[in-house]
Amino acid sequence: SNYPKTTMVIFGATGDLAKRKLFPSIFRLYKAGKISNEFAVVGVARRQWSDETLREVISESLKDEDPKLVEEFRSHFYYLAFDVTNKESYQKLDLMLSKLEEKYNIPGNRIFYMAMSPQYFGTIAVNLKQEKVTDTNGWTRLMIEKPFGHDLPSAQKLNNEIREAFSENEIYRIDHYLGKEMVQNIEVIRFANAIFEPLWNNQYISNVQVTSSEVLGVEDRGGYYEHSGALRDMVQNHMLQMVSLLAMDPPIRLTTNEIRSEKIKVFRALRKLSLDQIQDYVVRGQYGPGKVKGKEVTGYRSEKNVDPESNTETFVAAKLLIDNHRWAGVPFYIRTGKRMKAKSTKIVIEFKNRPMKLYYSENDELKANLLEINIQPDEGITLHLNGKKVGSSGRSIPVELTYSNDSDASANTPEAYERLIYDCMLGDATNFAHWDEVDLSWTYIDTISQAWSNGHSDLAIYESGTMGPQASDDLLSKDGFQWWPVV
Ligand code: BG6
Repeated sequence: SNYPKTTMVIFGATGDLAKRKLFPSIFRLYKAGKISNEFAVVGVARRQWSDETLREVISESLKDEDPKLVEEFRSHFYYLAFDVTNKESYQKLDLMLSKLEEKYNIPGNRIFYMAMSPQYFGTIAVNLKQEKVTDTNGWTRLMIEKPFGHDLPSAQKLNNEIREAFSENEIYRIDHYLGKEMVQNIEVIRFANAIFEPLWNNQYISNVQVTSSEVLGVEDRGGYYEHSGALRDMVQNHMLQMVSLLAMDPPIRLTTNEIRSEKIKVFRALRKLSLDQIQDYVVRGQYGPGKVKGKEVTGYRSEKNVDPESNTETFVAAKLLIDNHRWAGVPFYIRTGKRMKAKSTKIVIEFKNRPMKLYYSENDELKANLLEINIQPDEGITLHLNGKKVGSSGRSIPVELTYSNDSDASANTPEAYERLIYDCMLGDATNFAHWDEVDLSWTYIDTISQAWSNGHSDLAIYESGTMGPQASDDLLSKDGFQWWPVV
């Protein structure tokens, strides 16, 4: 059969990600018949759990599912209490995997999923190699969670460590945005429609806007977030990945290498800013108290595990320039933040205006044509056009053409993690970040963090429940633009 046959080791199986995302995603693959009965998962972590404890947690995370199926599914899960610095742990793991491979008739294929604290990623990889856990007669693959480093030097160090045990084409660096249905749709919308691609350049597009806003605050992650901030948490990975998909040239064909190579060219063309330019191109904000959905919330500085004088940013807006023939002169604006007005990820392509105005709408404004790509929660596209106002002469009115993924289809859409795990099982690395993308994105981000730590930029406090600080609006209005849609 064509089912992927593999064992999977989850480092950090007692953690939140495993429970919230990984177990449900693997279950959905099982339920959908995408994996056969020839699979086994070994959860490892420091705690002294038994197979039974792990299986109970799996049941909890699948409490709305058919108990019989869950029972069958979770029998494939095993637990190993593990010390990442102790060689014996790795030897035990290897032995356990060999036994499971025999039991389930799996040909030595092994996926190692790193979902524990990133400080151990390197140690684990090196030990897997030294203790020959990666020495099998099948294939081995590494799935690795973010954060992939803290800056370029630490990312390089981590990369060198994992490269001791895995080659580049065995490494699956997760950016869960690349697993989202509508993020994957960006390429299809662009390259499968003859009407967009001819206009997709600096002759016809005035600017591009990418917004990913959240309603939630930092929640329980203050400890992590204080060292990361929105720049490292969202911009280095998710936001820049979306920009690269919007800006890339059409690939020669739909292979992993061809697509990645076009994306990498975008990262290479990102204009590097100088330290004293950062103030003018990048806005940093932090949420203060405010009202979100009718409820009073505290400011970031009063959150758990956050320094009361913290200068960590929870919001970033930036203007990016891509120095190539297609995009010279077209700003790409990005913004992302916590405790904003709505949970939404949206892309807006603003087209240039007609050379001369013939028609006027009621308020004398002819709306620019916009193509909105809605990533979440709505999934679809809206094209903003102008039409004739019924009964008037020479008056126009904005009209919208909207396409949405219907809710039935969306309800059955694989979750980002489900898709990415399955891709890895099949050996398809297209929707994962290549090292060159990570390297170039950190190079870009490091200048910004350096300027900020040199005090080159003000931190703007914004009211919770808003779309961020005034400076974010000013960033566009300086150029004669505004964020769409106006909320
Ligand atoms: C994660 C960040 O990568 O993405 C979180 O660490 C953020 O801080 C999350 O909340 C947003 O993802 P999504 O899929 O909810 O848009």
